[in-house]
Parts: sequence; C-alpha cells; structure tokens
Amino acid sequence: MNDNKIAVIGVGYVGLPLLEAFSANKGNEIKGYDISKDRINDIRHRFANSNTHLFLTSNIDDIASSNIYIVTVPTPVDKNNKPDSTCLSIVCKMLGNIVKKGDTIIFESTVYPTMTENYCIPIIEAGSKLQAGKDFLYGYSPERINIGDSEHTIRNSIKIVAGCDEQTTIKIADIYKSIPGLKVKMVASIKVAEAAKLMENTQRDILIAFANEYSEFCTQIGININDVIAAASTKWNFSQVYPGLVGGHCISVDPYYLLQKACEIGLSLPLVSTARMVNENKVSKVVDRFVEKLHNTDIPTENNKILIVGFSYKKNCADIRNTKVANLVKGFKNYGYIVDVYDPLVNKHAAEKMYGIHLVTKEELSHHQYRGILEAVHHDAFQNLHFEDSISKLFLKIEQLL
Ligand SMILES: NC(=O)c1ccc[n+]([C@@H]2O[C@H](COP(=O)([O-])OP(=O)(O)OC[C@H]3O[C@@H](n4cnc5c(N)ncnc54)[C@H](O)[C@@H]3O)[C@@H](O)[C@H]2O)c1
Repeated sequence: MNDNKIAVIGVGYVGLPLLEAFSANKGNEIKGYDISKDRINDIRHRFANSNTHLFLTSNIDDIASSNIYIVTVPTPVDKNNKPDSTCLSIVCKMLGNIVKKGDTIIFESTVYPTMTENYCIPIIEAGSKLQAGKDFLYGYSPERINIGDSEHTIRNSIKIVAGCDEQTTIKIADIYKSIPGLKVKMVASIKVAEAAKLMENTQRDILIAFANEYSEFCTQIGININDVIAAASTKWNFSQVYPGLVGGHCISVDPYYLLQKACEIGLSLPLVSTARMVNENKVSKVVDRFVEKLHNTDIPTENNKILIVGFSYKKNCADIRNTKVANLVKGFKNYGYIVDVYDPLVNKHAAEKMYGIHLVTKEELSHHQYRGILEAVHHDAFQNLHFEDSISKLFLKIEQLL
C-alpha cells in the first residue's frame, strides 16, 4: 500500500481510462468524481459485470479525504473559437473548498501555456486561503490518449509530467509510475508540458491542412493524392498524413488555445490560423463536390434524399463532439436536400441533443430510396454493409471528395 489517495475529477474519455489504469495498482486508493450523475450511472452500468471495481461518485464529500487530485474536465472552445474555461473554473472553485495542506493537484485538461499557473491556481488559492507551492503542490501532465485506438493507450504512451518545482515534478512522476508499465518523461516546467501538448496537436492540424491543400492541387492536375502519398512515403523522412475533415475535441480545438495565448502576447501565428481555415473550409468543398456528382447522375431529380453513413468525428468511435459530419448535414440541407444519417456506434439521444439530428436505424434504411449516399466515416462495422447495391445509385466514400 502506498500513500496515494487519488481522486480523478471528470470521468470522461480521458478520466475513465486513467481511473482504470491507476486501479491496476492495488496500492493506490482511487476514486472517480464526476458532476454528471448520468455519466456515473452509465459507467457503473458498464462495469457492473466486470472484475474492475471502480469507486465512482458525484458527491464531493467522498473525495475530500483524497491527497492527490487529477483534473480531467473538458476545455472546449465557444462559438467564437475562444477557450471556454467554465468547467475548469468550477473545478478550481470546488478544489478551493477541499484542498488541504500537503495535497497535490495535477491538471491534465488541455490548456494553453501559463493557464495552469495564472488561471487555475489563483482560483484554488483564493478559495482555500492556502499558498500554492508551499501548502499544497501542483503540476501539469497532458493526456495523449487517442480515442478509438487500442494500440496507443495510457499505459504504453510516455507521460509528460511537470511540477511547480523540481521535487514536485519527481513526486508527480512517482504518482504516475504507480501505473504498471507506464513510462514518464519529466520536463523542465509546467509551461513546457502545456506547450508540448498544444504543439503535438497543432502540428497534426497543420499536416492535415497541407494534405487537404495538396489534394486540391492534385485534383486540378488530374492525379490522385493517395497515389502521390504512397509514392512520397517511400522517402524516409516523409510524414504520411492524409487529407480529411478535422473534427473532435482535440485537433480542431487545441490550436485555438494556442492562438489565444499568442494573441494575448501580441504575436500572430499565420501558419496555425491558416491551417485551421484550410481544414474548416474542406467541409463545403466536400458538399459542393457531392452535389455536383448528384447532378451528373440520371437519378430522377424529384428524389432529394441523401443518406450520410457515419456520424462520429472519426472512425470506430462514438464521440460526436465537433463532428464535421454535422456541418456536412447542414451544407446539404442548404442545398435543399433532405438528409438522413446512419451511425450504429453513436448514441441517438446524444446526436439529437447536441445537433438536433435524428439518426435512422438500419431497419428504417430499407424503407427509403436515396438519391445519393455518402460514407463520411468508415467504421470497421460497415465492412459488410453494401448500401450501394440496394437503396441508391450513387455511393461515394468521403476520400473520393477530399
Ligand atoms: N478525448 C481525448 O482524446 C483527449 C485526449 C487528450 C486530451 N484531452 C483533454 O482532456 C480533457 C478532458 O477531455 P475528455 O475528452 O475526457 O472530456 P469528456 O467530456 O469526455 O469528459 C469530461 C468529464 O468531465 C465531467 N465534468 C465537467 N465538469 C465537471 C466538474 N465541474 N466537476 C466534475 N466533473 C466535471 C463531465 O461530466 C465529463 O464526464 C480536455 O481538456 C481535453 O482537451 C482529451
């Protein structure tokens, strides 16, 4: 038994696997706290018949005796693409009420450099009347899990850690090392750890933007971008990145955190902003191309129904946050089409609540004839579905339009 009494705050896509990973070491006392009772009940239900016994709660009192708090709440952007720190601020106020002398607080939520120390910590200090770095310790450790990816997990991805001082960095490293097999990289400062996370995801955004732009060029000169990537990939230092719609909670969001900080210090990052714009603009290009193909078919024009297959922001996951498929639906509707969406992986109620989009069932599909079908996300589960044979003449995969 070690002295780790860990509370993970926010048991979502990041918090839950973290909770499970820490639970693998029986020496850790580990609890998961989430403000959403539905989320807690959902996880309890999911783990009801498993051997993993997780302590889950929506009651703050249950975590007040912990001595390590790890924050994994959402850090999205608002409708103007500005960082929305509402959840972080609520958690910091809550921590201000329960943090005790000797506790350690680690932030994992993605933030811009300086946000942990200049935004989060002062809220906790104000609430607790304790002095950060002296009465309680703190640090930052970015999360690198990749949703829907069973190959790169918490346990086999190196964890970057930084504390408010050298001793705390070592202490935080030891906390994470209590996860069996986990490798830790201690870095120079909290700012470095925060900036590393933003750099990882912004680099990816930029590379995809370049692939998206290059595919426009290839299309214009009559060649296929995939053939070009296959050829270029034979060079040892080529980064194999494909064109695509960039949605989700990280890559399409984190560059805005970086841009916010850059703006605060009076610096412009034109490459980062342009990459965002290129990726955002890809949606309308896909819509326009699909509509053009529809016009060129001999399907009777009175049929104005389109089916989109796949709704999550990427393949093999149920996550619909910032899914660009919602923008595709909007684009087709603007052209006057009626749009059905099918995705058996996605929770129907979540799609309805977040976007007002009704997902059709497989059963319902067979009752319709569609003018065209667009496979926007290729889940492995679609492997044996052959929509093109039965309910429409035009069937395209998104990569044919990128
Ligand atoms: N999802 C990813 O792949 C991923 C990868 C790396 C980093 N991140 C970052 O990790 C953070 C969490 O992301 P996520 O995908 O797990 O989000 P999520 O929405 O899946 O989970 C967050 C959880 O926090 C809970 N929550 C919100 N406010 C709370 C509060 N005040 N107190 C307690 N719980 C609260 C929510 O109910 C939710 O269950 C974000 O900053 C994100 O950018 C996410």
